[in-house]
Amino acid sequence: MREWRNNYGIDVLQNDVDAAWELPDWLTPAATAPVQGFHRSMAAYAQTPLLRLDELAHRGGVSAVYVKNEAERFGLNAFKALGSSFAIGQEVCRRLGLDIARHGMADILDPRWRDQVAGLTFATATDGNHGRGVAWTAQLLGCRAFVYMPRGTEPERVEAIRALGATVTVTDVSYDETVALAAAEAAANGWVLVQDTSFAGYEDIPKAIIQGYSTIAAEVADELRAQGKAPTHIFLQAGVGSMAGGLAACYLQEFAAAEPKIVILEPKDVACCYLSARAGENVSVGGVQQTIMAGLNCGTPCPLIMPILQQRAEFFLACPDFVAAHGMRLAEHPLGDDPHFVSGESGAIGLGTAALLLQRPELAEVRAAMGIDESSVLLVLNTEGAMAPSVWRRVVQEGEYPLP
Ligand SMILES: Cc1ncc(COP(=O)(O)O)c(C=O)c1O
Repeated sequence: MREWRNNYGIDVLQNDVDAAWELPDWLTPAATAPVQGFHRSMAAYAQTPLLRLDELAHRGGVSAVYVKNEAERFGLNAFKALGSSFAIGQEVCRRLGLDIARHGMADILDPRWRDQVAGLTFATATDGNHGRGVAWTAQLLGCRAFVYMPRGTEPERVEAIRALGATVTVTDVSYDETVALAAAEAAANGWVLVQDTSFAGYEDIPKAIIQGYSTIAAEVADELRAQGKAPTHIFLQAGVGSMAGGLAACYLQEFAAAEPKIVILEPKDVACCYLSARAGENVSVGGVQQTIMAGLNCGTPCPLIMPILQQRAEFFLACPDFVAAHGMRLAEHPLGDDPHFVSGESGAIGLGTAALLLQRPELAEVRAAMGIDESSVLLVLNTEGAMAPSVWRRVVQEGEYPLP
């Protein structure tokens, strides 16, 4: 293990990966096989674009830079509903005695089940996007949803969830404490907790949520294979790490021959996966931390997924907010003829990091340690669009959080 502190403001941990890692049985191709079929059964499903940033790649001296743009998922501006829709779909199927491998959304929405389904109430804690996915799926099924959000949540994120008919409570505590509160309320009221992180005795729904994200990897793999490409470096942002760990597992199977390096990105002051990887055990970042990356502002890694990151992620980067801001501005003002897209704070950290590695001489040593060279194919994920439009405007139009 090796650590570089404060490289252009970024802390970098190089982890010793374990070639003989254990893939959990719930993330094998057989286990995730029903996921894409279920998503395709939803009326709002469409494959999201895989963008190619050739000018950035050319100027940065690499073979290719790809951005999977999840801001276009389901018209919801973020990837998160992939997880909540599959988990809720699976839970409803289980209660109706249906097999999700053979039944899709149309079956669940069949009028003969309407009363039984509408009797369910879902609850969750969220810093924005996951709660929106739960509220959206609940509304689709005619169910109620209770959503709890931590102190300091941008009002725009609250309104986006209320607009989907959910009852939203903004707490006066951190994200981690809000998760505990939502779990207690769900238990007390007989609601179904749909949480995107696990804890003792609560694993089935988080597993289904993480499986739900596998549609992203499946779509990327189909497209890259058709182009005869495979990623060498995969950049994944982490809050609790569920998405990053789940996708890392899928990508490492899809692109096993290329042996891609997994790079985990977190906000600098709330880098719980970085700190846990360094400690060799799950550690929490306490208190209420400030970062513009609201979706990544989580203090405790998901216990189900951290072992995958510990074993298989080769780099952990703890990034100041200006890294995400750089990515947001580059998406809006691309180089040359590169495609334009809209990227929000948590979505943009991947592009921001990849671009800085290619552009800044201060990061040359890290770039060399990562083995980024002219044959590299970088893959980043834009996980959200402008979910908080006022923050997006301040960063992109008014230049807040400039590069040092
Ligand atoms: C936009 C966005 N990106 C990334 C993440 C990180 O996902 P996870 O908490 O599974 O690490 C989140 C989580 O809410 C998010 O909203």
